[in-house]
Amino acid sequence: MDLKLKIWRQPNAGAEGKIVDYDIKEVSPDMSFLEMLDVLNNQLVEKGEQPVAFDHDCREGICGMCSLQINGKPHGPDSAVTTCQLHMRKFKDGDTIYIEPFRSKAFPVIKDLVVDRSSFDRIQHAGGYVSVNTSGNTQDANAIPINKDDADKAFDAATCIGCGACVAACKNASAMLFVSAKVSQYALLPQGQVEAKRRAENMVAQMDAEGFGACTNTGACAAECPKEISLTNIARLNREYLKSSLS
Ligand code: SF4
Ligand code: FES
Repeated sequence: MDLKLKIWRQPNAGAEGKIVDYDIKEVSPDMSFLEMLDVLNNQLVEKGEQPVAFDHDCREGICGMCSLQINGKPHGPDSAVTTCQLHMRKFKDGDTIYIEPFRSKAFPVIKDLVVDRSSFDRIQHAGGYVSVNTSGNTQDANAIPINKDDADKAFDAATCIGCGACVAACKNASAMLFVSAKVSQYALLPQGQVEAKRRAENMVAQMDAEGFGACTNTGACAAECPKEISLTNIARLNREYLKSSLS
């Protein structure tokens, strides 16, 4: 396949960015999207030009680093996949592909397609941990019976990889789906009850402080989430927040 790429180039956080055109030829449909960018970068380096900076780590849908806005959609046209799991067979010969960083005030661009998502880390620091009694009478976590339904829901919430696609998809740049997943993975388990009274309140306060927008229930976040995190988690977050603020 021969493709025309229109890629956001921005030398650093303070510089102005712009879309730059690149032609790339003989792309295999079996390549991943990131492998296609690797080929482009090899060509740029051979020509003595700056390669395109983009984030990646695991390349198997686990780390959440490969956050790209592709033709206006977080992680591109496929559903329930990350950019590293997206294959070029989803595109046609002659296609034009726009590649941009995730856009949000709380995810400032560092360079080209790389954004700073440390705001997510700070939200987790605000409440996403579990205290454990280490007095010598610590109960083995595996010895605490947990209802199968709750365990399954907690596990589903815990599959959130912190990629930020929910924020990039939302017209308000809200981080509610991410925060709701992080709150839900603890709220459903007995181990998560130690900090339950303040977790939701602290995480929502940090989310607001980071500049994420409010949730207006459009559902764009869940539609674009590569891990299919459900909107029911946002309902749970709202309940946990109410309990948290009343206690
Ligand atoms: S909720 Fe989904 S889209 Fe949002 S950070 Fe988690 S995995 Fe990514
Ligand atoms: S590189 Fe880790 S999820 Fe894509």
